[in-house]
Amino acid sequence: MIPNQWYAVLNSKEVKKGKVIGAKRFGEKLAFWKDKDGNVSCIKDKCCHRGASLSLGKVVDEHLQCPFHGLEYDSTGKVVVIPANGKEAKVPKNFKVNAYPTRDKFGFIWVWFGDFQEDLPAIKFFDIDKKFSYSSFSDHWTVHYTRAIENQLDVSHLPFVHSNSIGRGNKTLVNGPKVEVEDNMIRVWVNNEKDKGQKPLKPDEFPEDIKETELQFRFPNIWQNRLSEKLRIVAAFVPIDEKNTRIYIRFYQKFIRVPGFRRLINSISDIGNKWILGQDKKVVLTQRPIKTELEMGENLFQADLPIITFRRIREKLKSSNSTK
Ligand code: FES
Ligand SMILES: [Fe+2]
Repeated sequence: MIPNQWYAVLNSKEVKKGKVIGAKRFGEKLAFWKDKDGNVSCIKDKCCHRGASLSLGKVVDEHLQCPFHGLEYDSTGKVVVIPANGKEAKVPKNFKVNAYPTRDKFGFIWVWFGDFQEDLPAIKFFDIDKKFSYSSFSDHWTVHYTRAIENQLDVSHLPFVHSNSIGRGNKTLVNGPKVEVEDNMIRVWVNNEKDKGQKPLKPDEFPEDIKETELQFRFPNIWQNRLSEKLRIVAAFVPIDEKNTRIYIRFYQKFIRVPGFRRLINSISDIGNKWILGQDKKVVLTQRPIKTELEMGENLFQADLPIITFRRIREKLKSSNSTK
């Protein structure tokens, strides 16, 4: 895990107002709740009294109440009421659990994984304005989230894994790809062609005027495929633990704005995207090891430049952001 980052961890809709849900993230069981005003909080899902699961509790005002003996937690993880001691009684300082700063933005729940800081940085997303609508689904993959991310930065697998879908046309030769990095975001321009014996262009020979599909990956865990100005696919690769990842896929469009028709088109796209993701999943789940590192003995080639770039930046961020 890269510390000191905002991670997208759930769809906003999964945490309903006045409700609590449990989810494992970063290898830890967590309880998320939203109060009536929509403020979202996240604390460790284990009561500091006698270990009951807090995600089975309920939201009382802005607090989370343990289902066992009714201890109430605030968003900083502190117990504010021990009912058995009386509501006026002072709560000892050791009655607390770990809490994570949490936000609800861009339709995702975000958790700050790292050192507590007074001024946390702003959460960055993509160039997707309010005119877009989206539909969404998620899937569970039994790999570390690095493998799932790299699959979406892999520009040479399409004619093989997706030969009957998005990889139709046998465009096996990969020009470049052109890769740029700005502000912890990797940008990739793709231009694949049929192999007629020509040499693929080197990344620095990649033509300036090619404005085909652009992939963007923003650290630590979100990705966008800019199919066009009005059409995008976004993914969040959510770390459950070292061996499991939840992938959230969204289809964004702003072509169609008539509500019923919009819903229909968005749902049809979901069906297509589920099928395509299923094609990826079949292969990626066989990759070993299930987690990637900068130095890991794989033999890479020119088309893997986005993956190499991802590994390099991840390594750099891991050491420069490491917790004190
Ligand atoms: S175990 Fe939570 S209040 Fe007792
Ligand atoms: Fe794929």
